[in-house]
Amino acid sequence: MHEEITHPCVQHKLALIRDVDTGHKKFRELATEITMFVCYEALKGLSVNEVDVETPVATAKCHKIAEEIVVVPILRAGVGMLDGILSLVPSARVGFVGLYRDEETKEPVTYYEKLPKEAKNGVCIIIDPMLATGGSTVATIDLLKESGAGKIVVVCIVTCPEGVQRVEAAHPDVHIYAASVDEGLNEKKYIVPGLGDAGDRLFGTR
Ligand code: PRP
Ligand code: URA
Repeated sequence: MHEEITHPCVQHKLALIRDVDTGHKKFRELATEITMFVCYEALKGLSVNEVDVETPVATAKCHKIAEEIVVVPILRAGVGMLDGILSLVPSARVGFVGLYRDEETKEPVTYYEKLPKEAKNGVCIIIDPMLATGGSTVATIDLLKESGAGKIVVVCIVTCPEGVQRVEAAHPDVHIYAASVDEGLNEKKYIVPGLGDAGDRLFGTR
C-alpha cells in the first residue's frame, strides 16, 4: 500500500523544494516541514491507550500513544527528515542504517547499522527523502526484519512507480507514504522530475 499526500500545503512546499535555485538552508527547512506533514499521515495508524486526565474541571477520557516508536533514517539524506518527525514524536528512539547507492550498479551498499533493541517490538519508521529504484529501502526493510522488527512504515518525500512497485513486491506488508509519486526514473536512476540528489542538496556538498 502506498499513499501520496496531496494536501495543498505539501504541494506548495514541494514546488519550492524541487526548485533548482533553492539553496541548502531553505532546502533543509522545507524537508523538515514536508516531513512533518507526511509523517502526520503516516502515524495515523498508531495504537493508543485510554487514560484518565484530571482537567481543572473534570476527568477527561484521553488517549496516549501506546507503541514504542523507532525512527530509522537512512544515512545520509534520511537525517534531513529527522527533526521533522521528532517534532511530532519527541520520545521516539532513533536507529541508523548507513547505505549508499553504488554509482555503477545503482544497488545499495550497507556501511553502518545501529538499532535500539526496541526496534524488535516497536513500530519502525524508515525515513529517506528519495525512494528511487527502491533498492535502499528494500535493503533497510530486510535488515530491520532480520533484527526482528514487526511493523514497518516508510516515509519519503519523492518516489516513483518503479520504486514503489519494488518495495511492494518485496514487502507487501510495509506501507509507504510520500509527498509525491513522480513520473519515473531516468537513465541514471534519478527520479524525474524529482529534486536531484537529496543528500547533496541537504548538506551543500558537490
Ligand atoms: C539516495 C537516497 C536514497 C537512495 C535512493 O542516497 O537518499 O537512500 O539514494 O535510491 P534507491 O531507491 O535507488 O536505492 P545516496 O545513495 O545518494 O546516498 P546519500 O544519502 O549518502 O547521498
Ligand atoms: N537519490 C537521490 O538523491 N535522488 C534521486 O533522484 C535518486 C536517488
